[in-house]
Amino acid sequence: MVSILLFILETLITTVTAQQLCVPYTSSFTFTSGYPAIWTTPTSDVFNTQEFQQVNSSIDWSKVPNIKPHTLVNGVVDKTGYSASDPDCWWSYNQCTSPKAPGLQPDVVLCPEPGTLGLTYDDGPNCSHTVFYDFLKEKNQKATMFFIGSNVAAFPYEAKRALTDGHQVCVHTWSHQPMTTLTNDEALAELYYSRKTIKYVMGVTPLYWRPPFGDVDDRIRAIAQQLNLATIIWNLDSNDWNMVPAGIEQPAQIDDIFQGLVDLGKNGTFANSGAIVLQHELNNGTMSKAIEWYPKIKSAYKHVVPIASCMNVTRPYAESNYTYPSFAEYISKNSSSTLKASYISLIFGVIAIFIAQLFSISIF
Ligand SMILES: *[C@@H]1O[C@H](CO)[C@@H](O)[C@H](O)[C@H]1NC(C)=O
Ligand SMILES: *[C@@H]1O[C@H](CO)[C@@H](O)[C@H](O)[C@H]1NC(C)=O
Ligand SMILES: *[C@@H]1O[C@H](CO)[C@@H](O)[C@H](O)[C@H]1NC(C)=O
Ligand SMILES: *[C@@H]1O[C@H](CO)[C@@H](O)[C@H](O)[C@H]1NC(C)=O
Ligand SMILES: *[C@@H]1O[C@H](CO)[C@@H](O)[C@H](O)[C@H]1NC(C)=O
Ligand SMILES: *[C@@H]1O[C@H](CO)[C@@H](O)[C@H](O)[C@H]1NC(C)=O
Ligand SMILES: *[C@@H]1O[C@H](CO)[C@@H](O)[C@H](O)[C@H]1NC(C)=O
Repeated sequence: MVSILLFILETLITTVTAQQLCVPYTSSFTFTSGYPAIWTTPTSDVFNTQEFQQVNSSIDWSKVPNIKPHTLVNGVVDKTGYSASDPDCWWSYNQCTSPKAPGLQPDVVLCPEPGTLGLTYDDGPNCSHTVFYDFLKEKNQKATMFFIGSNVAAFPYEAKRALTDGHQVCVHTWSHQPMTTLTNDEALAELYYSRKTIKYVMGVTPLYWRPPFGDVDDRIRAIAQQLNLATIIWNLDSNDWNMVPAGIEQPAQIDDIFQGLVDLGKNGTFANSGAIVLQHELNNGTMSKAIEWYPKIKSAYKHVVPIASCMNVTRPYAESNYTYPSFAEYISKNSSSTLKASYISLIFGVIAIFIAQLFSISIF
């Protein structure tokens, strides 16, 4: 009875919080100085600051390959004239993830554990993500979230929830541009200021990032690596971002792709190593599809885990007081922790009723 009452109380609190979270709000975090303008590529406004000059001089630019920024044509990176030998390990050209320039770490592309799916959501935090985060919480499922700095600045309380809920938070740049089209100054600022925003709002300094659109080459990798940001790509793509009304594909087409991901999980493709799937915390459509397909995805793969856990990275931030479960810890927690929680509330319920009867007080 008591646990039912507690449950009702918790539901009420969650509902009230949910309503408060999604309306536009002002927060105690300020971004008026020391940050680029929200959703714009950083400019001389920040380049000329003492802070950025200091960051810039901390980079050994002789280790950054001298690669000319690419151009955008009709909103996509232009590949014309680029050498077929892919000298810069440019992901957008041929999905290269093993750098060719010396001294660069290969990108993380998959979860090494057989049958294991690394779950990732790009582009958050979204103002309206409460239902989605509640769902993940209810399933006791942690994921890796690639947050856009401008969104963290706009929705700081949503961003904080990701950390509280135990998700792994990574950098997804300040304003979500194709990074290989940016100058060195712009690329450095995109990474530096998004990471600074995450530190300011959430108190952590991520050690991982993902390039928007996967658009990375050895020049961008070299800048990221000097900021202690390792690059995470993916080997399975849900294409969810391209669904109507935000995109052009019909929900049925996205369903076909998800069904394909389920089939791959079952047919032995990942018998020897696992996968990382790209999904998005972009809008109601992508989050609804994630909820809809989660049960089938979960049963098609042996384990569904955040990237930190499948890599055994127990400290995914520079700060040493945040620890995440290793792979073994994550997969063993999953079955036992919910069970433990329900036992505890049962025991408390019984004790409360016993005490109440002992003193003949009516608690209902
Ligand atoms: C950053 O440093 C490089 C190399 O010294 C220099 O070329 C560039 O102009 C600097 N950027 C800014 C914004 O000062
Ligand atoms: C599993 O399914 C995929 C997609 O349908 C296919 O490309 C692949 O060959 C299949 N693998 C096996 C081992 O059957
Ligand atoms: C968040 O999601 C809503 C719909 O659920 C969408 O309209 C909005 O553009 C998204 N916001 C951001 C900042 O991506
Ligand atoms: C999507 O929007 C509908 C209608 O507002 C809402 O009932 C549902 O909870 C939303 N789904 C997610 C995942 O936010
Ligand atoms: C959770 O535990 C069950 C039973 O041990 C297992 O089948 C499932 O794959 C695990 N899920 C995750 C996310 O590791
Ligand atoms: C993670 O740790 C487990 C247990 O020690 C080990 O079997 C596995 O190979 C490790 N995985 C990685 C990617 O390091
Ligand atoms: C970690 O340390 C920082 C700074 O000392 C503190 O603000 C934060 O609350 C700590 N977080 C945890 C989870 O211990």
